[in-house]
Amino acid sequence: MSKSLGVRKAIADRFGEELRFFRGWIDHPKAVGSIIPTSSTTARRMASVIDTSSGLPVLETGPGTGVITRAILARGVKPENLYAIEYSSDFVQHLRRNHPRVNVIEGDAFDLDRTLGPDAPPLFDCVISGVPLLNFPVEARIRYLNGLLGRIPAGRPVIQLTYGPRSPIPPGRGDYTVEHFDFVLRNIPPTQLWIYRRVKH
Ligand SMILES: C[S@@+](CC[C@H](N)C(=O)[O-])C[C@H]1O[C@@H](n2cnc3c(N)ncnc32)[C@H](O)[C@@H]1O
Repeated sequence: MSKSLGVRKAIADRFGEELRFFRGWIDHPKAVGSIIPTSSTTARRMASVIDTSSGLPVLETGPGTGVITRAILARGVKPENLYAIEYSSDFVQHLRRNHPRVNVIEGDAFDLDRTLGPDAPPLFDCVISGVPLLNFPVEARIRYLNGLLGRIPAGRPVIQLTYGPRSPIPPGRGDYTVEHFDFVLRNIPPTQLWIYRRVKH
């Protein structure tokens, strides 16, 4: 392929993906929660929490069109060691096409045990969550977090992005810590990253 054809193809892929995301938002605005995908800067920041030496797989929730999925793979996680739970069947098909070796699971990340099923690994290194939590009631967000923390070792992070000024999961409502990780300006809209952990006793 010539260089200019390669560049044109990359541009077409990029806008094709943004269009797909936008269409997803039109169909399910609350579930998708944003009109454009996360920036690659935010995605890399989120993937930076992965401990690639742990030997454990990684769980991603709400991968959408796969910006964060790509950052996780670029961090050195083998596709077979990545489990990604996505609600939208259109995004699932897109992810499976682009990442045939990643374990893309269609389902509800709030119903974690049922969605992962009996064959998934019992424990992950960490969770990278792109689910738009602000569109869910606070009690559901806390249940969601507890489900995820039950699947990673104590002390390891669940990292969550959000557009609000505060943590979408309030502190003091359970056996978890809340830590502000970063504010990424290079994202539309600028995004806050929060980390939640179960305390090691
Ligand atoms: C804000 S988009 C983020 C997409 C992608 N991670 C990114 O950063 O560009 C939220 C994604 O979460 C998915 N989602 C929403 N509710 C979900 C649920 N209960 N379980 C799994 N995925 C969900 C949506 O379909 C959408 O793909």
